[in-house]
Amino acid sequence: MHSERETSKLGVIERYREYLPVNESTPIVSLGEGTTPLVFCPRLSERVGRAVFVKNEGVNPTGSFKDRGMTVAVSKSMERKAKALICASTGNTSASAAAYAARAGISCAVVLPVGKIATGKLLQAFVCGAKIVALEGNFDDALRIVRELGEQRDLAVVNSINPDRIAGQKTAAFEIIDDMGDAPDFHLLPVGNAGNITAYWAGYREYHARERSTKLPAMIGFQAAGAAPIFYNRIVEKPETMASAIRIGNPASWKQARAAITESHGAIDVVSDEELLAAQAWLAQHEGIFVEPASAAPVAGLFKCCDSKEAAYSFHKIPEESQIVCTVTGHGLKDPDVITTQMKELKSVPATVNDVRRAVGL
Ligand code: F0G
Repeated sequence: MHSERETSKLGVIERYREYLPVNESTPIVSLGEGTTPLVFCPRLSERVGRAVFVKNEGVNPTGSFKDRGMTVAVSKSMERKAKALICASTGNTSASAAAYAARAGISCAVVLPVGKIATGKLLQAFVCGAKIVALEGNFDDALRIVRELGEQRDLAVVNSINPDRIAGQKTAAFEIIDDMGDAPDFHLLPVGNAGNITAYWAGYREYHARERSTKLPAMIGFQAAGAAPIFYNRIVEKPETMASAIRIGNPASWKQARAAITESHGAIDVVSDEELLAAQAWLAQHEGIFVEPASAAPVAGLFKCCDSKEAAYSFHKIPEESQIVCTVTGHGLKDPDVITTQMKELKSVPATVNDVRRAVGL
C-alpha cells in the first residue's frame, strides 16, 4: 500500500512547504519530524518570576532538532541525485543523517571525533547503517575535512553549512509563533556550531516580515564555558566540556550568530559544566523533561540571567510579563553515561509486600 503522505503526522516540509526551497519534483524524505511540544513550565516560571515555555526538540524522530534540517537537506540531495551523504558531527547530526539516509535509500558517511560521542548517538548512526569514521581530532578538524571532501567528490555535505539545513531548522520558530500567537520576548538556546541560532533568527524575521508576528525576540545564546569561542571572541583550539554536543572551538556560522545576537538586541553568555548538570537534573525533577547536557544550557543560562550579576544579560531589568522560550535540543537518553555515573548502585529486596513497603519508605 502506498499513501500520498508517508507518515500520519505532517513533517516540516509538508507543514511549511511555501517557506522552504522545495518544488514539485523534490522527493520528500520525511520521518514525521517537527510539530514538537511547546511546554509551559510552571515550576520553572515560578523560580524565575516570568512565564517560561520549553520547546522540546528531543521528541523529534531521532531525538534532536537536527531532523528539521535533515529532512530538507536529504530531500534536496535526492533531487540533485547525490551519490552519498557525508557529515562531521558531535553526534546528533550523524544520528539524524544516518536515519534520513536510510529512509532515502542512500549511503551515508559520518566523521566523528574519536571517543567524544555520546553512546546513544553513536548507536543511532551504527544501527542505521552509516559508515562511521573515528577521527583523531576534534569536531572542527572533522568539519574541515568534510568540507574538502565535499568539494572534491560527488558527496552531499549535510552539516549546517548546507543552507537547506538552516531552511528546515527555521520552522521551529514558525511553530512557536503558530502556538503562542506571536513571538516570545526572549529566546534562549545552546550554541555550538551556531547553525540553530542562525536558523531561529531567520525564521523569526521571515514570519515577522510576512506579518505573522508583531514582535521579534531577543536571541540569547549559551556556550559551555570551556568551548565558548563566540563569547570570548577567539577560536578555542582545544574546546572542553562534558556537554559533548557543543564541544566546538570554531563555529561555522559564527558571523551569522553574531548578527542574530546584535540585530535582536540579545546576548551570548557561558555556563559551566556544573551549571549544566544542575540544570539538567532540575528540569528532569521539576518539570519531567529529560534532556542531554548541552540542551540544559538555556535553562542553566536562564538561572544565571536571573540570579547572577555577572550574567551578560540580566533579567532584573526585564518586565515580569515577559514571555521566555527555551529550546531544549536533544533527548536525555542520548547520553546515558553522564547520568549513570551519578546513580547509586541499586540494592535488591526480597519479593514480599513487607520488604517492598519498607524499601519504598512511603
Ligand atoms: N544542542 C545539541 C543537542 C546539539 O547536538 C548541538 C549541535 C547544539 C545544541 C548546537 O547547535 O551547532 O546549531 O549551534 N550539534 C552538532 C552535531 C554540532 O554535530 O550534532 P548548533
